[in-house]
Amino acid sequence: MTTNGDDRTASRTDWDAAAPSFDDEPDHGLRDPEVRRAWAGRLRAWLPGRPSDVLDLGCGTGSLSLLAAEQGHRVTGVDSSPAMVDLARAKLAGRDAAFLVGDATSPPVGEQRYDVLLVRHVLWALPDPGRVLRQWRGLLRPGGRLVLVEGVWGTVSPVGIPADLLTGLLAPIAGELRVERLSDDERLWGRAVDDERYAVVASVQVLGQE
Ligand SMILES: C[S@@+](CC[C@H](N)C(=O)[O-])C[C@H]1O[C@@H](n2cnc3c(N)ncnc32)[C@H](O)[C@@H]1O
Repeated sequence: MTTNGDDRTASRTDWDAAAPSFDDEPDHGLRDPEVRRAWAGRLRAWLPGRPSDVLDLGCGTGSLSLLAAEQGHRVTGVDSSPAMVDLARAKLAGRDAAFLVGDATSPPVGEQRYDVLLVRHVLWALPDPGRVLRQWRGLLRPGGRLVLVEGVWGTVSPVGIPADLLTGLLAPIAGELRVERLSDDERLWGRAVDDERYAVVASVQVLGQE
Protein backbone atom coordinates (compact mmCIF):
# COMPACT_ATOMS: atom_id res chain seq x y z
CA MET A 1 0.00 0.00 0.00
CA THR A 2 1.24 3.46 -0.79
CA THR A 3 0.65 6.14 1.81
CA ASN A 4 1.80 9.20 -0.07
CA GLY A 5 -0.36 12.30 -0.22
CA ASP A 6 -1.06 11.00 -3.73
CA ASP A 7 -2.67 7.83 -2.46
CA ARG A 8 -5.77 7.35 -4.62
CA THR A 9 -7.50 5.42 -1.86
CA ALA A 10 -6.58 7.76 0.97
CA SER A 11 -10.09 7.85 2.38
CA ARG A 12 -10.12 4.04 2.55
CA THR A 13 -6.53 3.64 3.73
CA ASP A 14 -5.97 1.71 6.94
CA TRP A 15 -3.87 4.43 8.55
CA ASP A 16 -3.10 2.31 11.62
CA ALA A 17 -1.53 -0.30 9.34
CA ALA A 18 0.28 2.42 7.37
CA ALA A 19 1.69 4.15 10.45
CA PRO A 20 4.87 2.08 11.09
CA SER A 21 6.30 2.77 7.60
CA PHE A 22 4.70 6.18 7.03
CA ASP A 23 7.88 8.11 7.82
CA ASP A 24 9.87 6.20 5.18
CA GLU A 25 8.71 8.70 2.54
CA PRO A 26 11.12 11.66 2.49
CA ASP A 27 8.40 14.31 2.89
CA HIS A 28 6.69 12.33 5.67
CA GLY A 29 9.55 11.49 8.00
CA LEU A 30 11.71 14.51 7.07
CA ARG A 31 14.76 12.41 7.93
CA ASP A 32 16.95 13.86 5.20
CA PRO A 33 18.39 17.12 6.60
CA GLU A 34 17.85 18.94 3.29
CA VAL A 35 14.17 17.91 3.08
CA ARG A 36 13.73 18.83 6.73
CA ARG A 37 15.32 22.25 6.22
CA ALA A 38 13.13 22.89 3.20
CA TRP A 39 9.92 22.21 5.17
CA ALA A 40 11.19 24.12 8.20
CA GLY A 41 11.83 27.17 6.02
CA ARG A 42 8.36 27.06 4.45
CA LEU A 43 6.69 26.54 7.81
CA ARG A 44 8.54 29.47 9.33
CA ALA A 45 7.14 31.69 6.59
CA TRP A 46 3.60 30.33 6.94
CA LEU A 47 3.31 30.46 10.74
CA PRO A 48 3.14 33.65 12.84
CA GLY A 49 6.43 35.16 14.00
CA ARG A 50 5.35 35.02 17.66
CA PRO A 51 4.76 31.78 19.64
CA SER A 52 1.24 30.67 18.73
CA ASP A 53 -1.29 27.92 19.29
CA VAL A 54 -1.23 25.58 16.31
CA LEU A 55 -3.79 22.83 15.66
CA ASP A 56 -2.35 20.19 13.30
CA LEU A 57 -5.33 18.28 11.90
CA GLY A 58 -4.67 14.80 10.48
CA CYS A 59 -1.24 15.20 12.05
CA GLY A 60 -0.03 11.71 11.14
CA THR A 61 3.26 10.89 12.87
CA GLY A 62 3.69 14.55 13.87
CA SER A 63 6.53 15.55 11.54
CA LEU A 64 5.15 19.04 10.86
CA SER A 65 4.02 19.31 14.49
CA LEU A 66 7.62 18.78 15.53
CA LEU A 67 8.90 21.49 13.20
CA ALA A 68 6.27 23.88 14.55
CA ALA A 69 7.21 23.02 18.15
CA GLU A 70 10.90 23.54 17.35
CA GLN A 71 9.93 27.01 16.10
CA GLY A 72 8.43 27.86 19.49
CA HIS A 73 4.75 27.13 18.86
CA ARG A 74 2.40 25.22 21.16
CA VAL A 75 0.99 22.36 19.15
CA THR A 76 -2.11 20.21 19.41
CA GLY A 77 -2.33 17.37 16.93
CA VAL A 78 -5.46 15.40 16.09
CA ASP A 79 -5.62 12.21 14.05
CA SER A 80 -8.21 9.49 13.70
CA SER A 81 -5.53 6.77 13.74
CA PRO A 82 -4.43 5.76 17.26
CA ALA A 83 -1.20 4.31 15.81
CA MET A 84 -0.34 7.64 14.16
CA VAL A 85 -1.10 9.46 17.41
CA ASP A 86 1.17 7.09 19.38
CA LEU A 87 4.03 7.84 16.97
CA ALA A 88 3.39 11.58 17.15
CA ARG A 89 3.39 11.48 20.96
CA ALA A 90 6.71 9.64 20.93
CA LYS A 91 8.20 12.03 18.35
CA LEU A 92 7.29 15.10 20.43
CA ALA A 93 7.88 13.64 23.90
CA GLY A 94 8.98 16.40 26.27
CA ARG A 95 7.72 19.19 23.97
CA ASP A 96 4.89 21.67 24.53
CA ALA A 97 2.53 19.50 22.49
CA ALA A 98 -0.54 17.31 22.95
CA PHE A 99 -2.00 14.69 20.63
CA LEU A 100 -5.58 13.50 20.54
CA VAL A 101 -7.32 10.71 18.70
CA GLY A 102 -10.28 12.22 16.90
CA ASP A 103 -11.94 13.29 13.69
CA ALA A 104 -10.31 16.24 11.92
CA THR A 105 -13.72 17.46 10.76
CA SER A 106 -14.87 17.83 14.35
CA PRO A 107 -11.78 17.73 16.55
CA PRO A 108 -12.23 16.98 20.26
CA VAL A 109 -10.79 20.27 21.52
CA GLY A 110 -13.81 21.63 23.40
CA GLU A 111 -13.90 25.43 23.58
CA GLN A 112 -10.19 25.84 22.81
CA ARG A 113 -9.44 28.17 19.89
CA TYR A 114 -6.23 28.42 17.84
CA ASP A 115 -4.10 30.93 15.98
CA VAL A 116 -3.35 28.49 13.18
CA LEU A 117 -4.94 25.40 11.70
CA LEU A 118 -2.22 23.45 9.91
CA VAL A 119 -3.43 20.70 7.58
CA ARG A 120 -1.19 18.81 5.16
CA HIS A 121 -2.51 16.23 2.68
CA VAL A 122 -5.76 15.61 4.54
CA LEU A 123 -8.49 17.99 3.32
CA TRP A 124 -8.71 16.54 -0.19
CA ALA A 125 -9.71 13.12 1.18
CA LEU A 126 -12.43 14.43 3.51
CA PRO A 127 -16.04 14.38 2.33
CA ASP A 128 -17.43 17.85 1.52
CA PRO A 129 -14.26 19.99 1.99
CA GLY A 130 -16.27 23.22 1.71
CA ARG A 131 -18.33 22.29 4.76
CA VAL A 132 -15.17 21.19 6.60
CA LEU A 133 -13.52 24.56 5.93
CA ARG A 134 -16.55 26.37 7.37
CA GLN A 135 -16.33 24.18 10.48
CA TRP A 136 -12.60 24.83 10.84
CA ARG A 137 -13.24 28.56 10.70
CA GLY A 138 -15.03 28.21 14.04
CA LEU A 139 -11.84 26.85 15.65
CA LEU A 140 -9.81 29.99 14.94
CA ARG A 141 -9.23 33.03 17.12
CA PRO A 142 -9.70 36.48 15.61
CA GLY A 143 -6.73 37.09 13.33
CA GLY A 144 -6.23 33.35 12.89
CA ARG A 145 -5.10 31.64 9.73
CA LEU A 146 -5.42 28.42 7.80
CA VAL A 147 -2.27 26.80 6.43
CA LEU A 148 -3.38 24.15 3.95
CA VAL A 149 -0.86 22.02 2.05
CA GLU A 150 -2.60 20.14 -0.74
CA GLY A 151 -2.22 19.07 -4.33
CA VAL A 152 -3.39 17.04 -7.27
CA TRP A 153 -1.41 13.84 -7.48
CA GLY A 154 -0.78 11.76 -10.55
CA THR A 155 -1.15 12.76 -14.16
CA VAL A 156 -3.06 9.85 -15.75
CA SER A 157 -6.07 9.84 -13.43
CA PRO A 158 -5.30 12.66 -11.03
CA VAL A 159 -6.83 12.97 -7.56
CA GLY A 160 -6.76 15.79 -5.05
CA ILE A 161 -7.91 19.41 -4.92
CA PRO A 162 -6.63 21.86 -7.52
CA ALA A 163 -5.56 25.18 -6.01
CA ASP A 164 -8.23 27.13 -7.88
CA LEU A 165 -10.97 24.87 -6.49
CA LEU A 166 -9.64 25.24 -2.95
CA THR A 167 -9.35 29.03 -3.22
CA GLY A 168 -12.94 29.06 -4.53
CA LEU A 169 -14.10 27.12 -1.47
CA LEU A 170 -12.20 29.54 0.76
CA ALA A 171 -13.54 32.68 -0.91
CA PRO A 172 -16.64 33.08 1.31
CA ILE A 173 -14.65 32.83 4.56
CA ALA A 174 -11.12 34.03 3.80
CA GLY A 175 -9.63 37.49 3.96
CA GLU A 176 -6.09 37.78 2.69
CA LEU A 177 -5.06 34.62 0.85
CA ARG A 178 -1.91 33.49 -0.90
CA VAL A 179 -1.11 30.38 -2.86
CA GLU A 180 2.46 29.12 -2.92
CA ARG A 181 3.45 26.65 -5.61
CA LEU A 182 5.50 23.80 -4.14
CA SER A 183 5.91 21.52 -7.18
CA ASP A 184 9.13 23.13 -8.37
CA ASP A 185 11.00 22.78 -5.08
CA GLU A 186 12.30 19.23 -5.21
CA ARG A 187 14.02 19.63 -1.86
CA LEU A 188 10.53 19.38 -0.29
CA TRP A 189 9.82 15.99 -1.83
CA GLY A 190 13.28 14.47 -2.00
CA ARG A 191 12.85 14.18 -5.80
CA ALA A 192 11.53 16.07 -8.78
CA VAL A 193 7.72 16.02 -9.12
CA ASP A 194 5.59 17.12 -12.05
CA ASP A 195 2.12 17.26 -10.54
CA GLU A 196 0.41 20.15 -8.76
CA ARG A 197 1.53 20.72 -5.16
CA TYR A 198 0.88 23.92 -3.29
CA ALA A 199 0.16 25.61 0.02
CA VAL A 200 -2.58 28.10 0.74
CA VAL A 201 -2.14 30.52 3.62
CA ALA A 202 -5.41 32.29 4.35
CA SER A 203 -6.45 34.69 7.05
CA VAL A 204 -10.01 33.99 8.05
CA GLN A 205 -12.85 36.18 9.24
CA VAL A 206 -13.98 34.45 12.41
CA LEU A 207 -17.70 34.00 12.99
CA GLY A 208 -19.37 37.15 14.32
CA GLN A 209 -16.54 39.39 13.07
CA GLU A 210 -17.54 39.66 9.41
C1 LIG B 1 -1.42 11.57 4.09
S1 LIG B 1 -1.44 11.49 5.86
C2 LIG B 1 -0.81 13.12 6.31
C3 LIG B 1 -0.21 13.17 7.69
C4 LIG B 1 0.39 14.51 8.07
N1 LIG B 1 -0.56 15.59 7.94
C5 LIG B 1 1.61 14.78 7.23
O1 LIG B 1 1.55 15.66 6.37
O2 LIG B 1 2.65 14.13 7.46
C6 LIG B 1 -3.15 11.64 6.27
C7 LIG B 1 -3.43 11.57 7.76
O3 LIG B 1 -4.77 11.99 7.99
C8 LIG B 1 -5.37 11.13 8.93
N2 LIG B 1 -6.81 11.20 8.70
C9 LIG B 1 -7.50 10.79 7.61
N3 LIG B 1 -8.82 11.09 7.75
C10 LIG B 1 -8.94 11.69 8.97
C11 LIG B 1 -10.03 12.23 9.70
N4 LIG B 1 -11.27 12.23 9.21
N5 LIG B 1 -9.79 12.76 10.91
C12 LIG B 1 -8.53 12.77 11.44
N6 LIG B 1 -7.47 12.27 10.79
C13 LIG B 1 -7.67 11.75 9.57
C14 LIG B 1 -4.75 9.77 8.70
O4 LIG B 1 -4.85 8.93 9.82
C15 LIG B 1 -3.31 10.18 8.36
O5 LIG B 1 -2.53 10.24 9.53
